[in-house]
Amino acid sequence: VKAVNTIARMSTLVRMLKKEGKTIGFVPTMGYLHDGHLSLVKAAEKHTDVVVMSVFVNPAQFGPNEDFDKYPRDPKRDEVMAAQAGVDIIFCPRSSEMYSEGYSTCVTVEGLSQVMCGRSRPEHFRGVTTVVAKLFGIVKPDIAYFGQKDAQQAAIIKKMASDLNMDTEIKMMPIVRETDGLAMSSRNLYLSDAQRRDATVLYRALKRAESLIFAGERKASVIKEDMKKMIVQKPAAKIDYVAIVNPCDLKDLEIIAKDALVALAVNFGKTRLIDNIIVEV
Ligand code: PAF
Repeated sequence: VKAVNTIARMSTLVRMLKKEGKTIGFVPTMGYLHDGHLSLVKAAEKHTDVVVMSVFVNPAQFGPNEDFDKYPRDPKRDEVMAAQAGVDIIFCPRSSEMYSEGYSTCVTVEGLSQVMCGRSRPEHFRGVTTVVAKLFGIVKPDIAYFGQKDAQQAAIIKKMASDLNMDTEIKMMPIVRETDGLAMSSRNLYLSDAQRRDATVLYRALKRAESLIFAGERKASVIKEDMKKMIVQKPAAKIDYVAIVNPCDLKDLEIIAKDALVALAVNFGKTRLIDNIIVEV
């Protein structure tokens, strides 16, 4: 794996690859890699000639009281894991170069960024779309890979790429879960043993929603109530939202007549976990 720290070097490599006619698959991450990230690398390897992974803990997507400072970082471990997974170039830009003095440009996807996670994290998606737009400008990927765990993020990035005529195809890949169903996330590390055990209720609530839909329940309000009842049985769990929405435009569904994204965000102590499932109707 080639480690690159500057935008100039990355741009030079991209120019060379394009000249050689190589296609670029891109996996943007904030590091502290787990099997979820590695599954994106595997997909990129299958579809493109060269796999670029970025590792950048993006300050712009953290709110003032969020976990930017304590977000887990281990660049050496990331480099080893990326190399083993088949990443060709690992791009770790410096914050001072990504947001140099006087930086003043933002990318906002209106609407989709204000619902669900956007309600309790009002600046978050603007930070995500801004950094992803910058990374796309540098890496110029043919295909970029995002995990379904952040299904809202993937929908927003798809909309950004389409609205801004970006020449990058966005692929969303399935969630990778621990054996007990908890969706893999770098933030799972924050959970105490008891919180970690209780957090398994999230996937069980999502599966319960799926079985209710498969059994013929079509009223979203009934399903959401049932899920909430299950989750609040864990005293440490504080629900931020449970939503049933159209997977593309994230609009609330009252009656489930087509595919539905069932999504939730729940706090366990200071740790906010998100998860979702797409139910095909
Ligand atoms: O999903 C993430 O890890 C981040 O939001 C991303 C896409 C790398 C942007 O910082």
